[in-house]
Amino acid sequence: MYKKLSIKILLTFVLIFFSGASITHENIQHNISASSGDKCVEPTEIMRAQHHIFVKHQSHETVVKGIRTKKYSLNNCIDCHIKPTSNGTYPSVKSEEHFCTGCHIAAAAQVECFDCHASKPFKKVAKQKQGSLKK
Ligand code: HEC
Ligand code: HEC
Ligand code: HEC
Repeated sequence: MYKKLSIKILLTFVLIFFSGASITHENIQHNISASSGDKCVEPTEIMRAQHHIFVKHQSHETVVKGIRTKKYSLNNCIDCHIKPTSNGTYPSVKSEEHFCTGCHIAAAAQVECFDCHASKPFKKVAKQKQGSLKK
């Protein structure tokens, strides 16, 4: 009797745990292909909470102090995170399919960096265009 009850309680907790985990992540767009085994520049938890601090600090380092490094450069983020969509083109920065924008829309965050900065991995886009010219 007690055994059955404790199994039920355990099952309930397992269910709550798993459904909870999927709710928190459900409405956030991911545009990272499953095949990309790459790691972010910091652990995911830290990136989720602090990425804006890193890129704004990097902006200050470069624009004010003239220090250029790759790790937190915006191009580095874009190169790794922005992948082609199912039709083979890179998503616009206005689209929810854009890794950064998808989450910014969900979080109602105003991010205007891409008024000036490239939102697509431009070397890969250029390569793609070259490819289509050859065809
Ligand atoms: C009005 C145009 C403009 C806007 C808006 C803007 N930037 Fe920049 N940013 C620049 C220019 C110009 C540079 C210098 C470019 C260079 O020399 O590489 C720069 C450099 C940077 C760099 C250093 C280069 C690199 O990628 O490592 C970072 C990081 C950066 N900006 C981040 C940001 C972030 C984050 C935002 C939004 C909060 C932002 N910028 C908004 C114009 C802009
Ligand atoms: C070499 C590839 C690579 C680079 C470069 C990179 N990332 Fe990531 N990033 C990842 C991967 C892989 C994850 C884990 C994604 C996941 O857990 O779904 C991640 C996770 C994140 C997350 C958390 C996503 C979430 O769902 O919570 C944010 C935010 C993020 N990165 C922003 C950035 C920014 C900003 C930059 C540039 C400073 C950057 N990343 C550079 C590969 C990269
Ligand atoms: C997991 C969700 C998520 C992802 C993915 C994400 N962001 Fe953000 N971002 C946020 C949230 C939430 C804020 C507001 C943070 C705050 O103000 O505390 C924010 C704020 C920012 C800001 C600060 C804007 C400002 O003017 O202060 C920048 C810059 C930024 N994100 C860049 C990026 C870039 C670049 C990427 C893609 C490489 C990215 N983010 C991906 C959630 C995300």
